Amino acid sequence: MTAARLVARTVRGLEQVVAEEVRPLGPVEFQGHREVWFRAEPAPAVLGLRCADDVLLHGISVRGIGPARADLPVLAEAAARMPLAELLMARKRCGGKDFATGVAVSASFLGRRNYNRYDLEDAVGRPVASALGLLYWSRRGGVVPPDGGLSWRVTVEGDRALVALRIGERPLHRRGYRRVTRAGSLHPPVAAAMARLGGGGRVLDPCCGAGTLAVEAALGGAEVVLGLDRDAGAVAAARVNGAAAGLGGGIGWGVADAGRLPVSDGAIDLVLCNPPWDRQVPPTGVLARRPQRFWRELRRVLRPGGRAVLLLPANALPRAGFQLLDRLPISLSGQHPEIVTVRRD
Ligand SMILES: C[S@@+](CC[C@H](N)C(=O)[O-])C[C@H]1O[C@@H](n2cnc3c(N)ncnc32)[C@H](O)[C@@H]1O
Repeated sequence: MTAARLVARTVRGLEQVVAEEVRPLGPVEFQGHREVWFRAEPAPAVLGLRCADDVLLHGISVRGIGPARADLPVLAEAAARMPLAELLMARKRCGGKDFATGVAVSASFLGRRNYNRYDLEDAVGRPVASALGLLYWSRRGGVVPPDGGLSWRVTVEGDRALVALRIGERPLHRRGYRRVTRAGSLHPPVAAAMARLGGGGRVLDPCCGAGTLAVEAALGGAEVVLGLDRDAGAVAAARVNGAAAGLGGGIGWGVADAGRLPVSDGAIDLVLCNPPWDRQVPPTGVLARRPQRFWRELRRVLRPGGRAVLLLPANALPRAGFQLLDRLPISLSGQHPEIVTVRRD
């Protein structure tokens, strides 16, 4: 079978990281708002992308879908002409199920339009379901479609509409290992992207919460991974998630204060952390009284030249003793933090 056209959906700001992640699978054709289009053999490897929110088969891309409701029939006609048999075959080769009970569509658009998301979804869902002889499950009125359907995604940017078919049963960002989440638990593709940007080696997350960064670092191939948190409940949650990821003994978990870490000087190559900065989770213990101790301990445990990749509020300044290597603004749950990479002097 020839290479398939695929689309990786991303968190806003992670497009470049995802483009680099997909490159070993095949050439990147286009990078847009929260999308990376690429070509690759239709094989289960495409479901192994960790920094993408989801991976889909490119169905059709149509120009001329402007803000007017009258543009929707153009989209409906194009959707009816999609090479559906070919797409279903490619989906199966990638590891997707080869039967479905219905068709569900999820749409989003940029800019003002004289139609809403449900109008877009119906414009695609009705002709596709009819061509496949399946039921169409509309989301109008907030109805959640049942499991087991073919899940299509429609995005409209400018006058270009993209219709794409999800390969897996669930979006890639829903990790099977996340049995327990806590306030402030990190979106797994962001954690995977931070681990990727950091490189690996001996990795520490001193405020590990439910363990997402530590688990993603270990799954990404880090040598040694340590996850610590001052809250024993968080550490218990991280232990459950780590075991569910098949990393039972692979990560060292422990209760500790990030302002007084039980880690030797220079023992760590990479710190990955989204610290508690009073947004969703307040700092406690030493960090509540003396937040600067976070940076002091970071500097102490990192070897010279070691790195930290941190999720911080926009414009947070790294402290003395660190060189700023990169700032990557992202959009996450309506907030705009930055992935900041620093090197210890
Ligand atoms: C934003 S959450 C981290 C979430 C985590 N990355 C995840 O995916 O679940 C911040 C964590 O910092 C922890 N924390 C607060 N004060 C701390 C301290 N002094 N030392 C260590 N951990 C602390 C909280 O218990 C919380 O789990």
